[in-house]
Amino acid sequence: MQNILQVRNLEKIYGSKGNITKALDGVSFDVPEGEYVGVMGASGSGKTTLLNCVSTIDSATAGNIYIEGTDVTTLKSSALANFRCKKLGFIFQDYNLLDTLTAFENIALALTITKTNPRVVEQRVRDIAEKLGITGVMGKYPVQMSGGERQRTASARAIVTDPALVLADEPTGALDSKSAKALLESFRAMVKEMQSTILMVTHDPFSASYADRILFIRDGKLFTELVRGADGRKEFFDKIIDVMAVLGGEVA
Ligand SMILES: Nc1ncnc2c1ncn2[C@@H]1O[C@H](COP(=O)(O)OP(=O)(O)O)[C@@H](O)[C@H]1O
Ligand SMILES: [Mg+2]
Repeated sequence: MQNILQVRNLEKIYGSKGNITKALDGVSFDVPEGEYVGVMGASGSGKTTLLNCVSTIDSATAGNIYIEGTDVTTLKSSALANFRCKKLGFIFQDYNLLDTLTAFENIALALTITKTNPRVVEQRVRDIAEKLGITGVMGKYPVQMSGGERQRTASARAIVTDPALVLADEPTGALDSKSAKALLESFRAMVKEMQSTILMVTHDPFSASYADRILFIRDGKLFTELVRGADGRKEFFDKIIDVMAVLGGEVA
């Protein structure tokens, strides 16, 4: 299977002489198409730095990040903006929906910008809304929706352009457990039915247990990984808890 993401010897150093933090220290891994990968680690271990480097929001100090074969560490700003818009989908903790647009309009926006035929836009938005279970809120504005509905709308928006890679940083962070479960099930539907590839940072073992594989980061290095394989969610959850115990420190 083709690797959507290849990270090689990634290094990120913050600060300058006398006051430097090595946030990432030689991180390498691959993510094949259609895999749902979780990233876990203690607070300050480098999770967000990793996600921000992969998402091209932050620049790496050394190393390479290939997304569908393109080394994004070599792209200049205009090419980078274009690449981000075409190839990446983002899901943040705080939704980032536009308040003055309905759910339908929020999701359709990414396609409207690329001048897609309105009938194609309509069909595509309806399809994704159905898969994520939010058909009923398409006409609502963000203030009229629950947190979970907003987050699934944000997820629909992230995948409507069919990005190569979906990046999520603590997507369940602001949700109650029922909404979190619905969102995580939506992520599984994105992987199963739309072959989405997801890289998700989370401190929460329940959220992580929905992924196919977990990368554990410690002090900016890849500590270990856990593959779900044939395990059910509960078995995988128990294994995640075991690794967290070995990892030590407060996972946050
Ligand atoms: N902009 C920054 N400037 C300086 N240090 C930073 C910056 N961002 C993160 N760091 C440091 O890099 C390390 C990793 O941070 P981060 O990636 O946010 O960890 P996590 O998301 O796992 O909690 C921490 O020691 C943090 O203090
Ligand atoms: Mg973080």
